[in-house]
Amino acid sequence: MKLADLAAAPDQRRTARLLLRVPGPADGALLMDSFNASLPAYRFIHWAQRRSGPFTLQEAADLGGRLLGYHRSGSSLHYLVLRTAEAGAEAGAVVGLIDLHSFDFEAPRVELGYVGDVRQAGRGLMREAVMAATEIAFELGFIRVQALSDARNTRALHFAESLPGFRREGELRGYEPDPWGAPTTQVMFAALRPGLVLATEPPPAP
Ligand SMILES: CC(C)(COP(=O)(O)OP(=O)(O)OC[C@H]1O[C@@H](n2cnc3c(N)ncnc32)[C@H](O)[C@@H]1OP(=O)(O)O)[C@@H](O)C(=O)NCCC(=O)NCCS
Repeated sequence: MKLADLAAAPDQRRTARLLLRVPGPADGALLMDSFNASLPAYRFIHWAQRRSGPFTLQEAADLGGRLLGYHRSGSSLHYLVLRTAEAGAEAGAVVGLIDLHSFDFEAPRVELGYVGDVRQAGRGLMREAVMAATEIAFELGFIRVQALSDARNTRALHFAESLPGFRREGELRGYEPDPWGAPTTQVMFAALRPGLVLATEPPPAP
């Protein structure tokens, strides 16, 4: 794969209950409201712990603009997740934010990141959204979608273990520091493109 392949990433994707779409500067109010309600739950998220207070509207709009820029340049892909009409009065509510990042075009593999809005938690909506983002990654040509969770992030571990197609592969000790600078163990989860055949036979003789 190559960077140019990411241009095929859809700007939006619908699922049974959700709309995933690329965020932008006009989403400032949605992002601000969602993050400010959910920040206390983002204990293991670096950007959330680096903050000294709630998002202002301007900061959230700037963030939406940056995410759009990253998406367009292919440095990472971003989807804002919203509830659709089936949610009635809750239609349009923010469910979370998902990104695809750390592309390795040689492998080719990609890493998933996700934060959910606490007000929509526990309904399987983030699961539905993450599965849709995983599908997008496979459609783009990646053969492996991986997700890392701090070994102490019990809710995220439970969530990743419940994702259809994902497997807990093991622990990476001292892999990266947590938001407070302490070395951590990260747990690796991954899904492989359906039908992918892994080499198991010895390679051909030279
Ligand atoms: C990780 C995170 C996204 C998981 O969110 P979540 O609310 O647990 O995810 P879901 O909304 O998909 O909820 C799954 C739950 O909904 C339940 N559920 C309810 N209705 C459902 C339905 N129709 N379909 C599927 N699941 C359903 C599931 O059984 C599951 O419940 P359980 O946790 O008791 O097993 C969220 O906890 C979060 O944002 N954490 C903070 C940020 C973070 O740490 N991100 C991860 C970094 S690695």
